[in-house]
Amino acid sequence: MTEPSIDQLLDPEVTSINRLPMTGIGPLRPTAVDLDGAWDFLLVPSPADVPTGWLESDHDRSGWRKIQVPGVWTRQGTDDLPHYTNIMMPWPGRPPQVPAANPTGLYRTTFERPAGDRILIEVGGFESMLVLWCNGEYVGMGKDSRLASAFDLTPHLVDGTNELAALVTRWCDATWIEDQDHWYHAGIHRSVRLVTTPAARIEDVVIAADYDSETGGHLDVQAIIATDHRLESGWSVRIDSAELTIDMTAPVPVEPHPTGIEAQVDAYDFQGLAAHIVRPQLTVEPWSSESPRLYELHVSLLDAHGNLVDRIEHRVGFRAVEISDRQLLVNGAPVMIAGVNRHDHHPDTGKTLSRDEIRAELVSMKQHNINAVRTAHYPNDPMLVELCDELGLYVVAEANVEAHALHDSLLASPLFDQAVLDRVRRMVLRDRSHPCVIGWSLGNESGHGPVHDAAAAWIRSIDPTRFVQYEGADNVRGRPHGTKTPTIPPTASQRLVSDVVCPMYASVEEIVTWARWAEAENLDDRPLILCEYTHAMGNSNGGLVDYWEAFRSLRALGGGFVWDWKDQGLRETTDDGVEWFAYGGHYGDEPNDGNFCINGLVDPDGHPHPGLIELKWLARPVAIVAADNGRLTIENRRSHTDLSDLVVRYEVEVDGRPSGDGRLELPTVAPGETVTIDHPIAVPAIEPADAITVTYFAELATGTDWAEARHCVGHDQFVFVESGEPTRPPSRSDVDLGALVESITPTLWRPPTDNDGVGQGWMHEVSGIRPQWVAWGLDRIAVELTDVSERAEGGNRTVERSSRLVGEFDAASHLLRATFGADGSVRIVEELEIPDAWTDLPRIGSTFTVDTSLGGVRWFGLGPDETYPDRRSAARIGLWSDSVRDQYHRFVVPQEHGAHVDTRWFELLDAEGHGIRVTGEPTVIFSARQHSDSVLTAATTLAELTPDDRIEVHVDFAVRGLGTAACGPDTAEEFRIGPGRYRWAWWLSAV
Ligand code: GAL
Ligand code: MG
Repeated sequence: MTEPSIDQLLDPEVTSINRLPMTGIGPLRPTAVDLDGAWDFLLVPSPADVPTGWLESDHDRSGWRKIQVPGVWTRQGTDDLPHYTNIMMPWPGRPPQVPAANPTGLYRTTFERPAGDRILIEVGGFESMLVLWCNGEYVGMGKDSRLASAFDLTPHLVDGTNELAALVTRWCDATWIEDQDHWYHAGIHRSVRLVTTPAARIEDVVIAADYDSETGGHLDVQAIIATDHRLESGWSVRIDSAELTIDMTAPVPVEPHPTGIEAQVDAYDFQGLAAHIVRPQLTVEPWSSESPRLYELHVSLLDAHGNLVDRIEHRVGFRAVEISDRQLLVNGAPVMIAGVNRHDHHPDTGKTLSRDEIRAELVSMKQHNINAVRTAHYPNDPMLVELCDELGLYVVAEANVEAHALHDSLLASPLFDQAVLDRVRRMVLRDRSHPCVIGWSLGNESGHGPVHDAAAAWIRSIDPTRFVQYEGADNVRGRPHGTKTPTIPPTASQRLVSDVVCPMYASVEEIVTWARWAEAENLDDRPLILCEYTHAMGNSNGGLVDYWEAFRSLRALGGGFVWDWKDQGLRETTDDGVEWFAYGGHYGDEPNDGNFCINGLVDPDGHPHPGLIELKWLARPVAIVAADNGRLTIENRRSHTDLSDLVVRYEVEVDGRPSGDGRLELPTVAPGETVTIDHPIAVPAIEPADAITVTYFAELATGTDWAEARHCVGHDQFVFVESGEPTRPPSRSDVDLGALVESITPTLWRPPTDNDGVGQGWMHEVSGIRPQWVAWGLDRIAVELTDVSERAEGGNRTVERSSRLVGEFDAASHLLRATFGADGSVRIVEELEIPDAWTDLPRIGSTFTVDTSLGGVRWFGLGPDETYPDRRSAARIGLWSDSVRDQYHRFVVPQEHGAHVDTRWFELLDAEGHGIRVTGEPTVIFSARQHSDSVLTAATTLAELTPDDRIEVHVDFAVRGLGTAACGPDTAEEFRIGPGRYRWAWWLSAV
């Protein structure tokens, strides 16, 4: 065809030209030539600026540079930079308009023609439109930034050296349906390779490998054959597998007669050029996330003489997915989704990850008891599904469709019907033979239009083996009811597009109400699996335990996918060499959504945030709970495997000091079952003790693909003795605690978390409680000393200090009474009266600073990680030590962190082990950091954060919970701090 102009291509109905149909075997064919590497590159401001003659071999490329392929150009030193927006489009206009300023990358490379009948090129991913030429000849074009575009290069090739040229525009009409909440980049971001096939070839292999516990594996293989010429009869397809002990052959049907009466008869007989082989009742081990058993299968194309013409090696996992009676069943057993949403994100390259890097992410997920990934909000790199097959992670594959800026209207119109269908279809065609994929998602946040129904119907016809889901339908259903999960049955069309009720950010109350209604009324047959919940922005995931209690107690609740896996920070370095992570606005990108893309359970480098530790514990595969008469109940929370791969050991501790250990002999506990056993442990008779604990640790007996032997999958702790008040050692007399007492200052502030109120960008004004705190003046409280008195009481000196904590319009009053005891320790009583106007406070407590020489911290209480009132389930009582420096947690946007609730006592120690101890009466909440609240409050990036020359210590009576208010439910009422009178006490001593 004649080469269309770029303007002609920017038509939503034109989704590709000359692009080959998507297949599932693309990645399975060996690469003939790997084209990844340094290509010639020129960036021009718009397609109108493309230099004439740039496709000529002898074009003057002196102004060109090299660029790494794969790799977005927005991360490779061009002046066209990343742009982050959530809902808003990055530029104004109306669909399908594209701005005239449309940075356009021109790419050029050369390669030697590989041997082979047919040479295909596969461009793995590009943002956002690709046009391709070979030796100056037009090859074709494609859209859809997150799926490969493949073209047949054969007619364009010459023997020897060939020239390949590509043009990529940053924006195109399809950007309107790629309005996901992540960075906009530009360029070729996934691998480019050449593949060869024979002229007569296996075009695709479609595997449906079902499993039934009674009848075993059911293998259904379709080999789709393609050829440039009509095949003579006698060709066949063979499948064989030594592991499966199968070796079967089926004929390739003979193509219909082209003409004559036979042609009319053949039209009704000929089912297509596909060989179909079915093998029921195979003795196999099923595939599941817990036991991802894969079998090697060879699919061969043989000519009429039995000669091998083409061959594909495939891996097969046998498993059955079913939605039945409000449960998601895999291999007949209900499955709880402990899932995460995952973007392809890399702090340096932006969007390009190596196989090892993707694998490392998945290994980390497995180590944290995560069993599922939603590929938000587009098909992730194809390596992801291969690795999920291997490692055992369920995948809900989502199509690259989001029209958030025009949520309800865009896909209500037919403008993008063709494009949406194309995207859904190509995703399914790519991934349908992967056992890890259990469901298809039609996209994200695009309302509910007719095209969704069409797409769902298409999937149901081609792949009835999986569920379909689409949150957009729930979103519409939720309106005007004002809840994300209304207790009403779905309409036929809502039911058509979603086999799962999959709201985002519904509260625990909402999902519980829905589940009870659904079970009682039986008017909705679907399970509820949250497609997004517990928004992990900054220091977050407060209240996660409540979701999991609901998941575990109501059978219609099947878990959910956390938003999201990884902070989308982009690594930058200051001139002084300080590393920090950039987010929206740092590249002059306007409009932007600030740090709203920093919502991960892990930081941009993959280091876990505290929320991940909480999730890991809640999703642990085995729980050991107390039963009557000192017996133990072992709960196997898995769906498919018993506990024989685990070893459970226990540790007895008296006040955190080891006092015994042993191994718990696990009985056989079938998946989903519980067994109660006797397990008497001699509780040591050491008195008095503050706490005697027995902790059970479940560990892998042997190494797996994703963890080493002894990796701990979960623990449970029992507290046998818990005294009302911790004992205190005598205080050393050579330390001047008086000076320390003088510096103790009441405080109500904390460096706001993102849930307290997003601090950057436009959300700053509106999000969370933070603007209210600022209006009350809590960020700039003046502490006015109103009275100081001193008296001696029974030989003990008592100092009383009264102050007013003055805010904008109101003030709190505070009294601190310090009584110096005979043993040198000081008992501190605090009284605080909060005015009625201050209905919701960050914290109540006091703070003081100590010298950095006291840089060691030891505490007895919950640990080892930080805890907040609504995120403390994963912690256990113990004696913990750390350095103050390591109490710091590197949140991309610095914020409150490092609290330890329910602490009996803590110490700050110098290198010799001397320092101070604070003992609770009975407990305190503490934090000790070398970053002060004011520094943490002011800093917007890691580069603005330098350690102080003092350690700031907080001794609190209460801190506000974390909640998830940046996007979702706020901290529960019970974990907020309101007005009224408070009184608490603690001890200070020298050790
Ligand atoms: C959801 C959306 C995600 C992300 C999240 C907030 O509405 O699907 O893409 O924007 O909210 O971080
Ligand atoms: Mg969105």
